[in-house]
Amino acid sequence: MRMNKKKAWLVAALLVLATGAGTAWHFLVPRRTADIVQGTASAATVQGKKSLIVYFTYSENMGDTSGMTADAITSASLHGEKVIAEGNMQVMVREIQKKTGADTYSIVAKTPYPAKFEDMTQLAKRDIQEDRVIPLKDPVPDLSGYDVIYFGSPIWWYNLPAPVRTFLREAKMGNKTVVPFGIHRGSGFSNNLSIIKQFQPGIQMTDGFTMDAKTPNQDVRRQFDAFLEKLL
Ligand SMILES: Cc1cc2nc3c(=O)[nH]c(=O)nc-3n(C[C@H](O)[C@H](O)[C@H](O)COP(=O)(O)O)c2cc1C
Repeated sequence: MRMNKKKAWLVAALLVLATGAGTAWHFLVPRRTADIVQGTASAATVQGKKSLIVYFTYSENMGDTSGMTADAITSASLHGEKVIAEGNMQVMVREIQKKTGADTYSIVAKTPYPAKFEDMTQLAKRDIQEDRVIPLKDPVPDLSGYDVIYFGSPIWWYNLPAPVRTFLREAKMGNKTVVPFGIHRGSGFSNNLSIIKQFQPGIQMTDGFTMDAKTPNQDVRRQFDAFLEKLL
């Protein structure tokens, strides 16, 4: 039987609640192709413009993992399988950098999320449900010198991680062009593009790219490059 995405997530969430297992979304069937969501901003607002990449990834929000083996690091886009040796969020960030020379800003919570996956998922859920403002390690940068923001985030509990929401609450994006990209385990962007717009109503968005976090690095790279080629 094939479950629709919302149902699959409901089952996953129920399993998490019933068993305390944080890995319930691993039951979801990985999708290997990217979702491209249409935006309204044209490529002309991106090409040759001064750009900043803003992104969030759990693997940079777990505190010091230098003593941990790759297998012990549970960040879905960064784990022990050879085909996914690098975090897929970082793979995308590097591809943008290579093509545009953009600066980067990683959204990192001042207090790291627990490395124990179940603890982290529950804390992440409470942070979102209670709409907590999360102190960030580095202050939100001055965006006035940038025309384009590449904005990368995973989806957490059908939403943006609370540190990403905090960034969006504080950032002064004005009417800049935003290129959204993300990773997920079945939900695609869900409502995240409209959530970004709620925080930053003046921005204009280009097409967005999202992909299953467990896709092999080289597939993400190839499909994301094709997306960027069209945009740039
Ligand atoms: C707390 C938490 C909640 C998540 N919620 C969702 C979700 O609602 N839908 C989905 O498709 N994937 C969900 N995922 C999977 C993440 O999107 C996936 O782990 C992420 O893209 C991995 O990127 P990262 O490890 O680089 O942060 C969730 C993961 C975590 C840790």
